[in-house]
Amino acid sequence: MFDPELFIAECQAALSTNDPQQVVLRLVRKAMTDVEGVKKALGVGEGALFQPLFRSPELTIANMCAAPGSTSPIHNHCMWGVIGVYQGQEDNNLYERNGDELNKVETRSLKAGESWAMPVNLIHAINNPKGHYNAALHIYGGDLVELPGRSLWNPESDVEEAYDIRQVLAYTEQLSQ
Ligand SMILES: [Fe+2]
Repeated sequence: MFDPELFIAECQAALSTNDPQQVVLRLVRKAMTDVEGVKKALGVGEGALFQPLFRSPELTIANMCAAPGSTSPIHNHCMWGVIGVYQGQEDNNLYERNGDELNKVETRSLKAGESWAMPVNLIHAINNPKGHYNAALHIYGGDLVELPGRSLWNPESDVEEAYDIRQVLAYTEQLSQ
C-alpha cells in the first residue's frame, strides 16, 4: 500500500538523479496504480485545497483536494511539477502568453489513476468539473509557497499579479462560490 513517508523519501532521492521530474513521474504513476491505497493512506480525500506533506527549497509534496465545482485563478509555477489524481477529476486549463494577454490553448483532463508531468513554463488554472471532491498528489521541484518571481492573474481584472499562495487560495474560494 502507498506509504507517504517512503514516497517522500523516494521523491527526495529523485532530486539527485539526472532527471528528477521523470523519476518523480514514475513514482507517481506507480502510486496511481492503487488509488484506493493512496486514499486510505492520506485520509478522506476532501478538506483543505492545499495540504503540504513536505516542503523544502527544492521540493514540495502536497495533497490537494478541490471542492465540487472549484476553480483556481490562472497562475504559473516556474518549476517542474507532477500531478497524480487519485479521486474524481482535475481539469487543467492551459494558457500561453500573447503579448500582455493570455490565450487558452488546451484543457487537459486528468481522471483518477492518471498522472501528468507539468513543464517549468506552464501557465494554468485548475478546475474540479464534478459534483464531488477531487483529490490529487502534487509534487513540485521547488518551494511552491515561497519561490519569488511567479505570477497569478486576477480573475476579475485579468491583471498579472505577484504569485502568493494565500491569494491563490483566496481567489479559488471567491471563484468557487
Ligand atoms: Fe498550479
